[in-house]
Amino acid sequence: MAFGSFREFLNQLEAAGELKRIALPVATELEMTELADREMKKPGGGKALLFEEPVVNRKPSPFPVAINTLGSWKRLALSLGAESVEAVAAELGSLMKAKPPVSVRDALKLLGTALELRHARPRRVSDGPCKEVIHRFEAPPPRTEPWPPAPPLGEPGAPVPSPTLLELPVLRCWPLDAGRFITLPCVVTRDPDTGERNVGMYRMQIYDDRTTGMHWQLQKVGARHARRHLELGTRMPVAVFLGGDPVYPFAATAPLPDGLDEFLLAGYLRRKSVELVQCETNDLEVPANADFVIEGYVDPREPLREEGPFGDHTGFYTLPEPYPVFHVTAITHRKEAVYPATIVGHPPMEDFYLGSAAVKLFLPVFKMNFPEIVDIALPAEGVFHNLVFVSIRKTYPMQAYKIMHGLWGMGQMMFTKYLVVVDDDVDVHNTSEVLFRLCANTDPQRDSLFTKGPADVLDHATSEIAIGGKLGLDATRKLPGEGFKRPWPSLIRMDPAVKAKMDRLFNL
Ligand SMILES: Cc1cc2nc3c(=O)[nH]c(=O)nc-3n(C[C@H](O)[C@H](O)[C@H](O)COP(=O)(O)O)c2cc1C
Repeated sequence: MAFGSFREFLNQLEAAGELKRIALPVATELEMTELADREMKKPGGGKALLFEEPVVNRKPSPFPVAINTLGSWKRLALSLGAESVEAVAAELGSLMKAKPPVSVRDALKLLGTALELRHARPRRVSDGPCKEVIHRFEAPPPRTEPWPPAPPLGEPGAPVPSPTLLELPVLRCWPLDAGRFITLPCVVTRDPDTGERNVGMYRMQIYDDRTTGMHWQLQKVGARHARRHLELGTRMPVAVFLGGDPVYPFAATAPLPDGLDEFLLAGYLRRKSVELVQCETNDLEVPANADFVIEGYVDPREPLREEGPFGDHTGFYTLPEPYPVFHVTAITHRKEAVYPATIVGHPPMEDFYLGSAAVKLFLPVFKMNFPEIVDIALPAEGVFHNLVFVSIRKTYPMQAYKIMHGLWGMGQMMFTKYLVVVDDDVDVHNTSEVLFRLCANTDPQRDSLFTKGPADVLDHATSEIAIGGKLGLDATRKLPGEGFKRPWPSLIRMDPAVKAKMDRLFNL
């Protein structure tokens, strides 16, 4: 189902009993986080919250803030207009089965073809509600001097038309955060060589009324585009949008292969092409129904600027690191815009549902390359990549190791720190069950594989940033061909007939 606006989605959440309105004034600094965190920690992800009276820097904001709108299986399904995320995944899987791929490359190409089957390519329109209000800002000359340390909450520069970044109800999430951070920005860039578009989600620290940080980590597509602009010596147009159809943030965070347009995935999921309008001050396009658009550029020739600390997905603060500066050249918005936000921190948070939904959706792609894979889970405690459970139908010796190597080589699965492979009769979404098999079925020395590779830059435990060790654990039943000479015992299970009889006779 296609939502014409973010408000339309919020109305639907409210009608489904999935949204709580908060009418009292609440500060965007820390107070919203406290309420959102309590909600996100409730069983099943709590409700979405709509703050009707946000207070920014002690002043009321004209824009309400919506948070945790995708933080449960029910709300995710509602955002997709589907019965469940599984139903969407099954449909995509069956579209892809039309022509089995012969390689990983082939499977990814097939994903693109499957998405196009719904004729959901984005299309250009001349105007849209995201431009109901337009403010342009002058681009300053490129900076050559190093940047000064960021002021704690961003201090106003010379007077400029409102709203600037400082009036937007941007959250300062945690006490030791370096300032306020846009936490759900969909960031549009283009490959300067091929013109291919990318939409990624990279947080943005507000430095002042016209600049922010751009936290694209080094392995992400936005960072690759920036490196190419640096080589070419060119300024990089960047457009950031917030709100609109709720599938946009999902598409922006989904680990799509580089080169596959996130707007194609969004169009497929909403069953309708995404309508795009050209930005006012650069040649990028953004969804016409977005709530806010922040246009600008990154000049890769400029010095980087310290970004962070920021209370992150990992549950810890990520330390300050140098990142590019984003200069704002225009802010456009709907008259009745709602500002979407999320918080990250000690799991589980809203991002657990976004990450897990992406795994569910792309399970068919994994299965095409590795037909023995039954299911994959990223438990909340592992915060995406730290811990991955995979169940396989094992038919030959060392198959678990083939899966470990294969997954470590697939896109953002490269960040996986601990990878546990179990047999097909284990429910990987039941962490207790996986740990039981892990402890029972492994000889630690024999069944572990240490290797190394790229690491998530947010991982504070690696000795060097972005590189680190990985541990694969084979918790599957061992085969004689694997050098296991003893008989493998049977798992204790009750006779089904006895179970049925006891069910009939006793209410125990
Ligand atoms: C709430 C949220 C915030 C995120 N923030 C960042 C970030 O600041 N930097 C980053 O590189 N990735 C961040 N990610 C992960 C990326 O959005 C994700 O890896 C995405 O697939 C990147 O897209 P790309 O491969 O097109 O670059 C975030 C994800 C979520 C759910």
